[in-house]
This record gives sequence, C-alpha cells and structure tokens, in this order.
Amino acid sequence: MPDPFKLELSHRPRRLRRTASLRAMVEETVLRSADFIAPLFVVDGKGPPEAIASMPSVFRLNIQDLVKECRALAKLGVPAVALFPKLDASLKDDEGTQALNEETLVLRAVRAVKKALPQMTVITDVALDPYTSHGHDGVLTAARDDVANDRTVGILAKMAVLQAQAGVDLVAPSDMMDGRVGAIRRALDAADFTGVGIMAYSVKFASAYYGPFRDAVGSAKAAGTNLLSKATYQMNPANRREALVEAALDVAEGADIIMVKPAGPYLDIIRDVRNATQKPIAAYQVSGEYAQLHAAAKMGWLDLPRTRHESLLAIKRAGADMILTYFAKTMAAELR
Ligand code: PBG
Repeated sequence: MPDPFKLELSHRPRRLRRTASLRAMVEETVLRSADFIAPLFVVDGKGPPEAIASMPSVFRLNIQDLVKECRALAKLGVPAVALFPKLDASLKDDEGTQALNEETLVLRAVRAVKKALPQMTVITDVALDPYTSHGHDGVLTAARDDVANDRTVGILAKMAVLQAQAGVDLVAPSDMMDGRVGAIRRALDAADFTGVGIMAYSVKFASAYYGPFRDAVGSAKAAGTNLLSKATYQMNPANRREALVEAALDVAEGADIIMVKPAGPYLDIIRDVRNATQKPIAAYQVSGEYAQLHAAAKMGWLDLPRTRHESLLAIKRAGADMILTYFAKTMAAELR
C-alpha cells in the first residue's frame, strides 16, 4: 500500500537537521570569546562596585577593581575592553575641560590596565559627553543652539593624542562630528602614534536604546529633553543609504575599523556596510539591547542564556567581525 501523502521531493533540507552532529557540520556562524569587546565603566576613588539599576550585573568599578576585571576577561579569552569614565558632576563643565587633563580618570585607568596586562587591547571613546555638564558629545556654539563641529574636532584630536600617550591600542571617536576621523589620524601621526588605530563609530544612530548607558555615565541630560538634540549629529534611524555615506567617509579618512551602533535593531545596516567595505566591522550591542533581555528574563518571559546567545549570533551572522557587548564576560565563560 503506497503512502498516499508521500511527496516526490529532490530536496529535503530537513535531512541535514536530523541529528546534532549533522547540524554542527553545516553550522555557518560560530561565536568565540575573541569576538567580544567588553565595555567597562570606571569611577574614581576606592569605593565598592556601584550597581547600575537599568543594567543588571554591570558595575562602575574603581581602577583597582577594573584591572581585576580585565585580568578575569583576559583569562576567559576576551581580547579587548572599551573604557568609559563616570566623572563626578563637580568635574564637568560647559567645555568638557577635564577631557584634556592628562591626569583625568580614564587616562589613569588606561595606564593601570596596560601596565598590568600589556597584551589586552584597550579602547577609549573620543567624545566629550562624559565631561560636559550639558552631556553633549562636543562643545556648543555661542548661541548654544548647536554643537560646534570644527571646534569640537580640534579638541577630540588632542584627546586622542592624550589617550595614545596613555597607551591605548585603539581610539574610538563616538561623537559623530564631521571630519573627526581624518583630524584624529593626522594628529596621531604628527605625534608619532602611527601604530594607534581608529575604531570609528561611523554609523551611529540617534537611538533610544542608549538610555541605560546615559544613566551609567550620567550624560542623560542631552538625550533630547532640552533645546538641542543628539539627532543633530547622530544618524536618523530611518536612514539606510546614509549609513554607506558615513562608512565611506570614515574609510577614506583613515578609519581602521568601522562600527555600526546599535547592533540588534540594525542588522540590515551591518550587512549593507559589510558588503560595501573590506575593512573589519564592529557592532555595538548597546545598553538598551542588554537591558531589554534582562528585563524580559526577570519577568520570566524570555530565556536569558538562549536569547543572549541568539542576539549575538545574529549580529555576527549579519556581518560583524567583533561585537561590543555587556555580555562579553558571561558569553566567554559560557563558550569555554
Ligand atoms: C557617547 C556614547 C554613547 C554610547 C557609547 N558612547 C551614548 C550616547 O551617544 O549618548 C552608548 C553605549 C550604550 O548605550 O551602551 N559618545
């Protein structure tokens, strides 16, 4: 009695999904600990780790604890950290003057990490938002109705040289001012830091997913509540072609690595940029992406380990060579 439902199929894709070993053989994307860059928050003083309400398991660390954390990451095979300082409000001003202080927190942190772990790749943000009282990524015009692009770029180039002097491997301009990558490259070369690379936040959207990060570094003020919005420099989330314009400019200006940020909601952009450039691509799974998985897991609505893995796999599959993620340590431990 022939099976009345039997189909005459020459292709049955399910054949290669039948067993775990077959599935492993045809797996196209694999995460490894070397894919991850851990963003870390640093504070002054000797206090205990400070919790950040909207970012469970992420802490602001004093320099000593930061070094310990870096050592733990290195042991797990995480090759790089991106350092973000949280300054005391009393140190912030309109011009972000502390950004050019040779003894500013993040530079002391860089020196401590590089001294303890010379092999660790250390990355620092080049932007003024942790330093300005208004929280913008640059200095304001006299009318206070715009971030002064060219004057800001001059400050950022000096900031990058200070970071290079402190020992960073990569500087990461996250400000989205026009022309900053070229200016930073020229300043680094003029100061003989030809070996220090630029990881450019080339395609950075004006995203609501940065909310928890702004709590962490205390830059929330600029988020759009006052006259001037970050949308005057960060990209419109509606735009796709513009991402290729930004990426091409940064490549032409000398960026070594092109970043797309946020990551999860912008997988199409990661793929577009992947197809448009041969440079390595970094993607930043930002604070809000991290927070939403934690929040849903806390409600019992999502499985955190599985959604964490899947979210990062999707970012790599889209074309990212490396991923900045607050899950770096957990993932590296899990993959071991
Ligand atoms: C600031 C900067 C931001 C992030 C990294 N660098 C926030 C902003 O632009 O306001 C966001 C990172 C995150 O949300 O995890 N230049």
